[in-house]
Order: sequence, then C-alpha cells, then structure tokens
Amino acid sequence: MFSSQPVDGDLTANAIFLTLSLHGDDAALQAFRDFCADLPGLIRAVGFRNAGAGLSCVLGIGDGLWDRLAMGAHPQGLHPFREIAGVHRAPATAGDILLHIRATRPDFCFELATQIMRRLGSVATVEDETQGFKFFDNRDLLGFVDGTENPAGADRSSAVLIGDEDAGFAGGSYVIVQKYLHDMARWEAMSTEAQEQVIGRHKLSDIEFPDAEKASHAHNVLTNINDAEGNQLQILRDNMPFGSPARCEFGTYFIGYACEPGRIETMLTNMFVGLPPGNYDRILDVSTPVTGALFFVPSAGLLDRIGA
Ligand code: HEM
Repeated sequence: MFSSQPVDGDLTANAIFLTLSLHGDDAALQAFRDFCADLPGLIRAVGFRNAGAGLSCVLGIGDGLWDRLAMGAHPQGLHPFREIAGVHRAPATAGDILLHIRATRPDFCFELATQIMRRLGSVATVEDETQGFKFFDNRDLLGFVDGTENPAGADRSSAVLIGDEDAGFAGGSYVIVQKYLHDMARWEAMSTEAQEQVIGRHKLSDIEFPDAEKASHAHNVLTNINDAEGNQLQILRDNMPFGSPARCEFGTYFIGYACEPGRIETMLTNMFVGLPPGNYDRILDVSTPVTGALFFVPSAGLLDRIGA
C-alpha cells in the first residue's frame, strides 16, 4: 500500500509557496537527494512543537529534474508547463522544485521554509517565494469565496491521486501553479453584478447562479469540464491571496492538484483561449499570470527512494 504526500489536505490559514531551480552540478543533485530523505524529519521536528498548527509540506519535482534523477521510469503526465497564447497569455516559467508549505500559523510555515532554505539555498536558485494568507471567509482578493466547489471525501482522493493507470507512480499527483496579479482598480470599477457574472456566483452569499443564468464565459462554466462519458473531471485547488498594499500588489496564487495534468490544462485552455475560442474567462481581463509551472508529486514512498 502506498502512502501519499499530504496533497489532499484542508485549506489552511497560511501557506508559503517556494519554486526553486536546482543547480546543474552533481553535488547539487546529491544535496537534493539528501534533502528528499530528510524532509519528513524536518517537517516532524518543526511541526511537533505544536501539533495544532497542522504543519504540512508537499514537494513537487519538475520534468527536467525528474530526468536528472534517473529513476528509470517517467510519470506519464509529467512534462514542462506549456505556455498558452490565447486571448490572454499564460507564460511558462522556470522551476525544478515546488514546496507547498501549509499551516494554521504563519510562524510554522516561516520556520519550515527557513530550514528548507538552509538545506537547499546554496544549491538552488529561488524562482519565486510567495507567502499566502487567509482573507476573511476564504475569499480571494477579488472578494469572492474561493474553494467552495472543491471535491470532498473519497472524491477528493480520486481527483488528485494517481491510481492503477500509472501503477509505478500510484499515490503520486500532479500540481500546476500560477501566480496571478490583479488590476484592482479595473475590478473595483465594475459593478458587483458584473463581477458576479464573471465568476458565476453571488459575491456576498457565495451561492452559485442557476446554470440558465450563468454567462457562457463565467469562470465556473469554463472550468467545469467532463470526460467523454459525462463524468465531471475534478481538481483540488488551494488558492491563496498574497500581496503588499504598500507596493500596490494584490494577487491570487493558483495551485491545482490532479491525478493527471490534462484536465487542468483543458481548464486553462478554456480560460485563456476560450470555449469556443474567443469566449474567454473575463477574470483574465483583471488578472495576469506572471508564473506557470507543472510538477509531479511523488508518493511518500517514492520520495524516500529518491533520497536513498
Ligand atoms: C472556482 C477564483 C483561477 C479552476 C472558482 C471560484 C472562484 C475562483 C471565486 C468559485 C468558488 C469555488 O468553487 O471555488 C479564481 C481566481 C483565479 C482562479 C481568483 C485566478 C486569478 C483558476 C484556474 C483554474 C481554476 C487557473 C484551473 C486551471 C476552478 C475550478 C472551479 C473554480 C475547477 C470550480 C468550478 C465549479 O465546478 O463550480 N475559482 N480562480 N481557477 N476555479 Fe478558479
């Protein structure tokens, strides 16, 4: 029986997202292997100080680094993030390693990130560090509750965990991250009713519009996708607001986990190119992604083997 990294954890009040590129030399690769072996111990040591803080960390590995590790097989869905150039553009940016650190308290995230950087800081380049926080009732900085339609219970595990279809990597997952910056002046110039049409839900109550009242380009129309048999293809999102009022920076860090990345890529195509083409997601008129990367999340057992 495989055990997974805690990809299907609950939304937490705090998160740090670290994206790193590992240096190209063998010493860096060995340091990364050693880090993989030691990460569970680091999480235990920091987290044990207060179990109530719910500290967890998920490590993802990019396509290029996976090949360097020479583990003998390649996860079916692992490839570099593919840029999308539609009505709006989703860029692909660098990153070999993603660390998704979550806790109910910011000090636990901060301390684990510090310990991680002590181990990897001299062998990796920081591509991005984003510190996310909970904003009122799980709202994003656009003011809408974000995460309501996430799958729950058994649906959550089946949405995010690789199963028998790629048995050598069972218990693993895929994750796509994008860091979005919002044009708040443009968003706030819109009426609440117009904003609700963009999202497809009521802003204050978070109640979903009846299907007949949703715009064809509503966010929850373009991201609600089915397989050929009509079953909904779900992903697990743990988006977080981030920003700096003093620098006029307001953003949403999008993070989506899935058992195969194709469904997230289809949602992105629907958003950026449109469905049909041109009928794009109006969130993108006020939100610009400045990063985009895809990672494979090995099961805990496989992570241990990377470190062996
Ligand atoms: C739903 C915000 C980007 C996939 C939602 C909802 C909000 C939201 C407010 C409605 C509540 C909920 O169910 O969570 C945002 C913001 C984004 C963003 C502010 C970036 C600026 C993305 C991206 C994807 C995505 C990039 C996928 C590639 C989804 C899905 C749903 C959803 C699958 C649920 C749709 C449903 O079945 O009702 N998002 N989102 N979102 N979003 Fe996003």
